[in-house]
Amino acid sequence: MKAVLAFDQGTTSSRAIAFDHSGIILGVAQREFTQHYPKSGWVEHDANEIWESQLHVGREVLEQCKLEPSEIAAIGITNQRETTVLWDRATGAPVHNAIVWQDRRTAEYCDSLREAGHLEMIAKKTGLLIDAYFCATKLRWLLDNVDGARERAERGELAFGTIDSWLFWKLTGGRIHATDVSNASRTMLFDIAKHQWDDELLALLDIPRSVLPKVLPSSHLYGETEAELFGGAIPLGGAAGDQQSALFGQNCTQVGMAKNTYGTGCFMLMNIGEKPWASKCKLLTTVACTADATHQYALEGSIFIAGAIVQWLRDGLGIIQSSSEVEPLAASVTDSDGVYLVPAFAGLGAPHWDAYARGTIVGLTRGTTRAHIARAALEGIAFQVADVLDAMQEDAGTKIAELRVDGGAAANNLLMQFQADIMQIPVVRPKVLETTALGAAYLAGLASGFWKDLDDISNVWQTDRIFTPSMSPEEAKQRRSRWSDALERARSWEQ
Ligand code: G3P
Repeated sequence: MKAVLAFDQGTTSSRAIAFDHSGIILGVAQREFTQHYPKSGWVEHDANEIWESQLHVGREVLEQCKLEPSEIAAIGITNQRETTVLWDRATGAPVHNAIVWQDRRTAEYCDSLREAGHLEMIAKKTGLLIDAYFCATKLRWLLDNVDGARERAERGELAFGTIDSWLFWKLTGGRIHATDVSNASRTMLFDIAKHQWDDELLALLDIPRSVLPKVLPSSHLYGETEAELFGGAIPLGGAAGDQQSALFGQNCTQVGMAKNTYGTGCFMLMNIGEKPWASKCKLLTTVACTADATHQYALEGSIFIAGAIVQWLRDGLGIIQSSSEVEPLAASVTDSDGVYLVPAFAGLGAPHWDAYARGTIVGLTRGTTRAHIARAALEGIAFQVADVLDAMQEDAGTKIAELRVDGGAAANNLLMQFQADIMQIPVVRPKVLETTALGAAYLAGLASGFWKDLDDISNVWQTDRIFTPSMSPEEAKQRRSRWSDALERARSWEQ
């Protein structure tokens, strides 16, 4: 076998990456797809477009690397989490656009669940806070708002899944309706200690059990692709939500090891070992990936807008032409000159959880230039990450020694240096920044025997650069206090 293939189905694009035995990238193919914003706060994807884009890049990478299906040990899927698809089992047709994780349409219903006193029970079972972010209320919305959906679901005609399930279904011609534990743990319907769907939650949310996929380990032989898709069947060796996949791809398999991924949003996860425990600082407890069927958990801080702020500078504000311009522009000034940008465009996630917060820029003067705004935007990403790090350290009762970073914006040296400065701990960037895809490749490679065990893959992870703090602790403290002031102004804006 020459390679494993990772299908990295993200929020804005579908990618396929082939890795060889030493973890070297043999080829990458990527395709963006359409974002639909039917109303303010609503975000949807066409599940068929997702599938077509994923299939396309899968074929493209095989061709690019001149790999035959028989030379691929397995495919591992990693995906944008929580995005909710409901489809017809007989036709395979989605009953509605997929509701994306960023979508806030069920925020009010979530308020009512909180007001009715369900917070504690839900947190205890699922490790999650009640929020429109997770699948459960999105699925309920689909069942209640798509004509005839609830009746069809009651008759067993519909299937629900996160994007991994949807891809498994499509890749196997409808033979497999399954999800992995890490994705299941993001639905708000899954008991993370018992590793099973929970009847009390299903009753509360009014979700018929018949729509649910089977839950399997992240590293597991799920089946094989339909032969005609790639010109020969390829084993499906695993799946994981993209953030848990990145944690695994960063080799954070020991308690206390943490990573942060800079994608559309930012997601910090810390391994907490084999027993789940609840955060006191509004972080989530979630299922982490393992090389086998054993259980591990992670604490997670989810930040909704990070890299997306750079897209907004480009597409919304038009102050840069391409995303790569942000670093030189921000570096053209020595600081943000007192400008703070809170990127709460989709509310605030961890550790603040305010669905009604909105993006805010404060501290503008006549001297403010686009360079200061670009710098404040990058700093806004780093401040949010620092808030999550504080919450994580408080929860764990220990200092986190270093933060491993990955994702597109981890290549931005200015951002990484500021991140280390403001957190006052080292930021470690690995050589392979594609750790999300690498995690899925590991999972599939381990299930198919391409790699023997964790030792076999331990050398794949190597350091590219360590950013050590160069700002004084006093200055970091003062900057963070100003950030907190700016944050206060962004809160509850829509309420
Ligand atoms: O929880 C949402 C997350 O999985 C999305 O990740 O990388 O597609 O922004 P990404």
